[in-house]
Amino acid sequence: MSAAALQGQTLLLLGASGGIGAALAKQLAAQGANLIISGRNLVPLQRLATQLATKTQCVAADLSNFAGREHLLLALPDKLDGVIFAAGYNDFALFEQQDPTAIHRLFELNTLLPILLTRALLPRLTPQARLVYVGSTLGAIGYPGYAAYGASKAALKHFVQALRREMADTALQFCYIAPRATQTSMNTLAAQELNQALGSKTDQPDWVASQILNQLIAKQMQDQNLGMPERLFIRLNALLPALLDKALRKQLTVIKQFARRKTPGLTQSIKTTPAGVKGACK
Ligand SMILES: NC(=O)c1ccc[n+]([C@@H]2O[C@H](COP(=O)([O-])OP(=O)(O)OC[C@H]3O[C@@H](n4cnc5c(N)ncnc54)[C@H](OP(=O)(O)O)[C@@H]3O)[C@@H](O)[C@H]2O)c1
Repeated sequence: MSAAALQGQTLLLLGASGGIGAALAKQLAAQGANLIISGRNLVPLQRLATQLATKTQCVAADLSNFAGREHLLLALPDKLDGVIFAAGYNDFALFEQQDPTAIHRLFELNTLLPILLTRALLPRLTPQARLVYVGSTLGAIGYPGYAAYGASKAALKHFVQALRREMADTALQFCYIAPRATQTSMNTLAAQELNQALGSKTDQPDWVASQILNQLIAKQMQDQNLGMPERLFIRLNALLPALLDKALRKQLTVIKQFARRKTPGLTQSIKTTPAGVKGACK
């Protein structure tokens, strides 16, 4: 497949108002794809749509609940050539201090949403449709401060692998792309300060988006872990987890310093909206 192959394709992009999603929307539109862009709030979606050169439909819906997902499904066309699952939620916290509501939300948005929506969308996919699931390095490496987040992404990774194998006798393609830390508003100040303190590299959302685009136009999509040395650490963790246990033990004091909350139970703001608002942008 070549970039020209996206011309006129109809793609659903979840999380389009986010850092990675907005960058990807612009790159996909530049390739001539028609987009259905989704997030909870209509205004940022409409603002984004004004910057896109192709036909764009905006669907605002809280996809962590049934009503929001139903609202999205009703707004979608009968045929989709691809879906990019880039909506997500993070909550950097010591597990012992983490609000159970946040734990629910992590799994609702990062795991259940892509699984349930994939199930609902299968009948609408064109035979060679492509589905891209945005995971995380932390889905492959259990990391202090991200126990529940990492688990929600690990489950997603496993789902994508199994579904790809189950549907290997069709022309549908599935891939899981795992970025490392990326400069978007998903990361709280504490998470950013931890990355700085540890000297962890971070990527720009435009670059991460370009890696997703590369998979969408590749002949055969492949799972990808983005960034070095993270790719190496993922391999080491799979082969020699005790080595990573040791290395992370050395960093634990620093990690806890940033992950600990002054007010136990305090969690990142959880915004909610009505079931959904639909709007045709152009
Ligand atoms: N940033 C990183 O460091 C990083 C690293 C690795 C992986 N990732 C993954 O990359 C993906 C994109 O992350 P990002 O950095 O672009 O995050 P972001 O800037 O926070 O964007 C998150 C997107 O998800 C949407 N969203 C959040 N809650 C929603 C809900 N309940 N219903 C519908 N949409 C919802 C947001 O829209 P509204 O807020 O308007 O609802 C926004 O469009 C996520 O899956 C994330 O886990 C990010």
